[in-house]
Amino acid sequence: MNNFSYPLVENPFSDDDIKKAKSVLNSKQLTLSTNTFNFEKKFKNKIKSNFSLMVNSGSSANLLAFQCLINPYRKKRLEKNSEIIIPSLCWSTSLWPIIQSNLKPIFVDINKDTLNIDIDDLEKKITKKTKAIMLIHVLGNCCDMDRLMQIKKKHNLILIEDTCESLGTKFNNKYLGTFGEFSSFSFYTSHQISAGEGGMICCKDKNDYEIIKSLRSHGWSRGTSFENKYKNDKYLNKKFIFFNSGFNLRPTEISAAIGYNQFKRLEKMKNSRNSNRKKIINAFKDNKVLRDTISFFQPSKKVKPSWFGLPLRFYTKHNLNKILIKLEKMGVETRPIISGNFTRQPAAKVYKLFKKNNFRNTDEIYNSSFFIGLPTPKLKKKKIEKLVKIFEKIFKN
Ligand SMILES: Cc1ncc(COP(=O)(O)O)c(C=O)c1O
Repeated sequence: MNNFSYPLVENPFSDDDIKKAKSVLNSKQLTLSTNTFNFEKKFKNKIKSNFSLMVNSGSSANLLAFQCLINPYRKKRLEKNSEIIIPSLCWSTSLWPIIQSNLKPIFVDINKDTLNIDIDDLEKKITKKTKAIMLIHVLGNCCDMDRLMQIKKKHNLILIEDTCESLGTKFNNKYLGTFGEFSSFSFYTSHQISAGEGGMICCKDKNDYEIIKSLRSHGWSRGTSFENKYKNDKYLNKKFIFFNSGFNLRPTEISAAIGYNQFKRLEKMKNSRNSNRKKIINAFKDNKVLRDTISFFQPSKKVKPSWFGLPLRFYTKHNLNKILIKLEKMGVETRPIISGNFTRQPAAKVYKLFKKNNFRNTDEIYNSSFFIGLPTPKLKKKKIEKLVKIFEKIFKN
């Protein structure tokens, strides 16, 4: 059993992905070009979003969404300290773009069964200053989007969907990432598709798209309607017009080529993971020790999930850290659900991000849950049996 290895992520690249990456290198065109444009087009057409722009990470996509919301070229831009609702179970760079844009995060607890935002708590936290919701679709699942959209409408809120963990999931037959004004996706190594690094931002409005495009690339006018606006200005070179503030968050053509190639296989990979998940759950349920010890999270109503990892939860009280150490020793790699209650992180305290830490469900999930990998290639029966044996051995003691 010592040589057993059940990693969080197995090699995410197919031979064809590598071939595509090599052909980009051979072309010597590594910066923004046809691979990126083709991927953006394919992405927006498949998920049915109005606009898609590829960036170098999911974090960059989140940053662009909030920087767009405060940008002077936006008619309805958010004022300093506007309140933005965010679940306490979040990733670092779902949160920091809010602070970096001079906005104020308001944390909301989660629902223990879905791992997603607790909509009752969300409603309680809405004030006159609330302007937007930063929603995080956790590990391929989501909250009741019907109810969330009603609240959004009622309070006239902007919705940003952090879909970095949930590419390919549908709610009521509509892809996550197409409900809000903005959405972000990540193609980091462990995600539904992996370009090594990379991300996508989608938005509904053409003006927002132009703002994001310029912010992604130094505040440059290239490829926007501002390209011709200053053409008669004798102090400006038409090719070097900067009409906005900016960053450089562009992807490379190599990540675009890999991301695009994998995106074409998204449904296939999603189905394969769903099937692996079912097999593991059934094997755990068939085991006398594990069936009463461990539970699995089920998709919310109306959700067709595209799973990211396999989160588990204890029915009974256990010392989580001890169990994780044992699992790691026996070759099973684990990690917490996102990063647990983010308000417990030192950075949240240094920046004084909240008054009272009363996110009980998020704490409870941190203390009773974790996740293991969910590979895309078909899992062999023997591997599942070994995995079950390891868990059985740990929980028997
Ligand atoms: C919910 C969520 N948002 C954002 C990100 C950031 O994505 P990236 O690693 O591509 O920057 C992650 C990363 O895993 C994430 O889980």
